[in-house]
Amino acid sequence: MIDRLDHIAIAVPDLGAAASLYRDVLGARVSEPRDLPEHGVTVIFVELSNARIELLHPLGDDSPVAGFLERNAAGGIHHVCYEVDDIVAARDRLAAKGARVLGDGEPRIGAHGKPVLFLHPRDFCGTLVELEQAGEA
Ligand code: CO
Repeated sequence: MIDRLDHIAIAVPDLGAAASLYRDVLGARVSEPRDLPEHGVTVIFVELSNARIELLHPLGDDSPVAGFLERNAAGGIHHVCYEVDDIVAARDRLAAKGARVLGDGEPRIGAHGKPVLFLHPRDFCGTLVELEQAGEA
């Protein structure tokens, strides 16, 4: 069901320092910061040839990464994102197997303009998992 790794998201306390680390120390291609108010984050995309790294920093009062950074002051891996062909079919399969989908279970449009769902970390080896439909909705 899951196929490509799309991205690994890393929550960081200092976006500028993280961008410099990936660009100047690791030698990666790093985007400008982009505010995504509907997701409560500012993100920098690190483009690798086979996947992306997303550096996430809280934006606004209700950011999903704020609590994570309170518990992990130095930052850390926040979630991994796998592609699926059909996100509704994926959700129904997971529900049938007893895995918990976060929120109301309806896919919403993620940071790349494609439908996404998040799966409960306790059901997936302690890792928050994002599923992203490979094509448009
Ligand atoms: Co993501």
